[in-house]
Amino acid sequence: MGLNDHPSFVALKNHHKTLGNFNLRQSLQDQRRYESLTVTLESITFDFSKHLVTPQTIPLLLALAQERDVAGWREKMFTGGRINTSEKRAVLHTALRAPADADIRVDGVNVIPAIHETRARMAAFADKIRSDKTITDVVSIGIGGSDLGPRFVTDALIDAHTGPVIHFVSNVDGRAILGTLKNLNPKNTLVIIASKTFTTEETMLNAAVAREWLEAGVGKGNIGTHLAALSTATEKAIAFGVTPDRIFDFADWVGGRYSLWSAIGLPVMLAVGPKIFDQLLAGAFAMDTHFRLAPLEKNIPVLMGLLGIWYRNFWNYPVHMLLPYDQRLRRLVKFIQQMDMESNGKSVNRDGQAMDVATGPVIFGEPGTDSQHSFMQLVHQGEIIPVDFIAAIKADHHLTDNHQSLLANCFAQSRALAIGQTLDEAGGDAGRVFSGNRPSTTILLPQLDAYHLGMLLAAYEHKVFVQGVIWGVNSFDQPGVELGKKLAKAILPALADGEHGEGFDLSTTHLIDIVRHA
Ligand code: F6P
Repeated sequence: MGLNDHPSFVALKNHHKTLGNFNLRQSLQDQRRYESLTVTLESITFDFSKHLVTPQTIPLLLALAQERDVAGWREKMFTGGRINTSEKRAVLHTALRAPADADIRVDGVNVIPAIHETRARMAAFADKIRSDKTITDVVSIGIGGSDLGPRFVTDALIDAHTGPVIHFVSNVDGRAILGTLKNLNPKNTLVIIASKTFTTEETMLNAAVAREWLEAGVGKGNIGTHLAALSTATEKAIAFGVTPDRIFDFADWVGGRYSLWSAIGLPVMLAVGPKIFDQLLAGAFAMDTHFRLAPLEKNIPVLMGLLGIWYRNFWNYPVHMLLPYDQRLRRLVKFIQQMDMESNGKSVNRDGQAMDVATGPVIFGEPGTDSQHSFMQLVHQGEIIPVDFIAAIKADHHLTDNHQSLLANCFAQSRALAIGQTLDEAGGDAGRVFSGNRPSTTILLPQLDAYHLGMLLAAYEHKVFVQGVIWGVNSFDQPGVELGKKLAKAILPALADGEHGEGFDLSTTHLIDIVRHA
């Protein structure tokens, strides 16, 4: 049976048909509704009251979660079940946040001691680099999950920076690595190669450029103290020239886009120190515990996931927007884009059958208030796009007026989307009529510190997990990325020496020819 025909899916479709007159403006007058649709966890408020839901909707969505066994799959994830079915691997990024006395087993072996042993090595290494001060700059070379998480968190925790300056290079466009290295002195630079597989072409090309730059700057025999590697492929890192004591490893059950919490987080630790990195993990662990234990109807990631399904599959809204009202979260969207779109942008289910309903939405967004002056016009009067507004109550700077204005704008946007403006209110000007009934969640953090950031990111990870379970897709592989890699490998020799290989289409062949003859 396709998902479309499941009883709870059918019930939701029927329920959706009854909502033609739903009026969010009116619903927002109801105090009880506000209370029942707001969840607070450790001072973070998740306000779900501005959603297109009636008292019947959430129970129907929860019935869908039950029918799809979200609780069962959740337990499988937390206990090391091989839920990455295509790669036959466990999915245990939650183990990376678990305390030292936890016992989580894969093939009968408790994975926790090895995680904490690596973390202790990372901490000793970070402390040494941070205290001895020879290294003033770190260049972290990686891409995708080996870049987006650490880059975003390093940026977000800017107030806590007490270590060397961290630079990130991901793009294979030579300008990325050249632009970074040209301002640095190799004698004071540590190059970190972050790659789960240690084979990703972009990373390996950039790493080779950096190694050559180090060799020229400090001498071939001396690059050892300027290199480190974060990888599951220890042998390959050694072959590249990294000494074993500077290789920080992690297990293959850490997915690339879930690897921030593993050794891949070393750049963050170098910037803010091991203690603050531990707070990030502690925040994520708090959200893990909530996700695992809270009843589904008050479970933040479950509600986030279900509301996403509600809009994607029943209202047919293909885009989900993130609008962080905090400059420090300017890279959040990129991070969540990979987490969500690489996980759930799938056309077949876990059993290889074609999906009969839409899967992951397009994730899009920019920090406010900048976004208000670029694309928000369309969100007010054009396409209907559910939004997550994210803001911190405390500014962590002294410009109170700026912060008040930031929050006022954030609340004004969600209010305008929900309430709209009638023709009367617009003084009869049809161009200023806003339909309203445009849904959003507001997530209000007490402050943007490592702990609350950890909570926030883990909430999104689990939201994506919940949606993947409901759709029945494997959220932990990325065949689309692999196809692109394979085809690029085939085109490379054609660009270099005109060997067209077999079966290029005419457009690709001509594009290659144009480059070759330019
Ligand atoms: O984007 C696809 C992907 O496989 C990600 O999952 C991973 O984070 C990234 O490529 C980089 O891979 P690696 O860490 O092995 O270099």
